[in-house]
Amino acid sequence: MKNNVVLIGFMGVGKSAIGRILAKKMGYSFVDTDFLIEKKYQKSIKDIFQTEGEEAFRQKETKIIKEIAKKKNQIISTGGGVPTIEENMAYLKEDGIIISLVANVDTIYNRTNNEKRPLLKGKTDVERKVIISELLNSRRKYYQKADIIFSTDFATPLKNAENIFRYIKNSRKKV
Ligand code: S3P
Repeated sequence: MKNNVVLIGFMGVGKSAIGRILAKKMGYSFVDTDFLIEKKYQKSIKDIFQTEGEEAFRQKETKIIKEIAKKKNQIISTGGGVPTIEENMAYLKEDGIIISLVANVDTIYNRTNNEKRPLLKGKTDVERKVIISELLNSRRKYYQKADIIFSTDFATPLKNAENIFRYIKNSRKKV
């Protein structure tokens, strides 16, 4: 049986909100790769992108993933770009069931309506929608490489977490 639950997916699909609820339900710890990067490097994601660039951010991200993948009983919420790097997924899959959360462009657009995300920052609303749509298209193949895919468009984080919880329980019974 795999000991971790890994949530992957685009920005705004609900990984953190659902992950927190799921962690409580399962008695697991909740970890978020973005948060851990900010803690370890004492810098916000925004600052890392701004002063060091995306490539440096990706290297830090992979380092953090390598570290947490060794620990057990965690719900791991990953940054939206994590699955695009094969090495990241190899570490996470070793002891983790991979759950992909998906949502349509409009849902993501509405849920990322702030300045927190460097990839969407400083854009007009129209530009933001185009970026989301293009990035989503180019990443879809990575988000599809999961044990199961859940759509989060039409239910609350609580309902989504309950559905995922049920799936995990059932899949563990079968092992
Ligand atoms: C990113 C998503 C962000 C964060 C960084 C890059 C991406 O995380 O890791 O801004 O490449 O999609 P969330 O998916 O938690 O917003």
